[in-house]
Amino acid sequence: MTAPSRNALVPFVSVDNMMRLVLHIGVERMMVELAAEIEADFRRWPLFDKTPRVASHSDIGVIELMPTSDGETYGFKYVNGHPSNMKKGLQTVTAFGLLADVATGYPLMLSEMTILTALRTAATSALAAKWLAPKGATTMAMIGNGAQAEFQALAFKAVCGVTEVRLYDIDPAATAKCARNLAGRGLTVVSCRSAEEAILGAQIITTCTADKQLATILTDNMVGSGVHINAVGGDCPGKTELHRDILLRSEIFVEYPPQTRIEGEIQQLTADHPVTELWQVMTGAAPGRSTAKAITLFDSVGFAIEDFSALRYVHSRLRASGLFQDLDMIADPDDPRDLFGMILRAQAELAA
Ligand SMILES: NC(=O)c1ccc[n+]([C@@H]2O[C@H](COP(=O)([O-])OP(=O)(O)OC[C@H]3O[C@@H](n4cnc5c(N)ncnc54)[C@H](O)[C@@H]3O)[C@@H](O)[C@H]2O)c1
Repeated sequence: MTAPSRNALVPFVSVDNMMRLVLHIGVERMMVELAAEIEADFRRWPLFDKTPRVASHSDIGVIELMPTSDGETYGFKYVNGHPSNMKKGLQTVTAFGLLADVATGYPLMLSEMTILTALRTAATSALAAKWLAPKGATTMAMIGNGAQAEFQALAFKAVCGVTEVRLYDIDPAATAKCARNLAGRGLTVVSCRSAEEAILGAQIITTCTADKQLATILTDNMVGSGVHINAVGGDCPGKTELHRDILLRSEIFVEYPPQTRIEGEIQQLTADHPVTELWQVMTGAAPGRSTAKAITLFDSVGFAIEDFSALRYVHSRLRASGLFQDLDMIADPDDPRDLFGMILRAQAELAA
């Protein structure tokens, strides 16, 4: 059949090419660059279309669509969250996403986003900590050592200067995997046997566990003053990680309140409990940490603008890297109104 026209082709970044891109740029450099891209977009926050993500829940998981636009470029991500997948040999979180040109509605790029989500989540976490963590923080507890864990550890090293990570997971095999993957990367890695042991001496506590229930990974008595909590795993209605009393003692920072009030740790609080939007700290419109002794909490759920930033970052490096394949994705007849004729011409060509 006649080859597809230029307009028909959409660059596609496969998992294979995403891995090549990460290796080509380097994980830590990519974290720093992604964090900068996300911060630049957070600084122009009011300009974006924003909506809580569209979630389809089942008893064992969720499938979500996350759209946004800056008026020139549109992006969306498809993502799932299925904590029980791991026992079936499947990922808890998988994703793919698309960028499109607002002027024509034509797609600009389709991309794998399972790896990109791990990168952008870690870059966002580290970026929030850069603004909120106590000064000079060098030690991080990492509770939950699954798919996201190494990305989190390396982002905090690259963006915040963390030098020691203290690992804990209810499954020692996950901790062993994480410690193995982080070996030789310039971090002191300490494997711990309890969450209490992991948070000893840590100025930053990351919780990144997966359980579709109201879990209590940290209780109130475990958290002292002057720490920053990066709560990543509570990101669905009925799925939280922190005891409510910790929230009541914390200065709480969120991405997009209408989404976080449904999905984040703050679903445990009243709808009018004060929270600060992270973008406002970056623009100076709102204060960050109030004192060295305060507990700051980044109640992370993952917002569409972070995926948009990550997709644009990948898109901007496509032509130079060549790490994509063209997909014949958009039907493009010579006469735009003759879509049916395009099928007839294909039929004639196939019959010839
Ligand atoms: N906020 C965001 O932007 C964002 C982005 C991606 C993923 N997530 C969430 O982060 C979480 C982790 O994702 P993942 O891909 O690493 O999942 P994963 O299933 O690969 O790993 C989760 C780990 O948590 C451990 N765990 C479960 N309960 C625990 C407990 N009580 N104490 C200690 N460890 C425990 C499990 O053994 C497992 O190793 C998920 O809940 C996911 O939905 C959030």
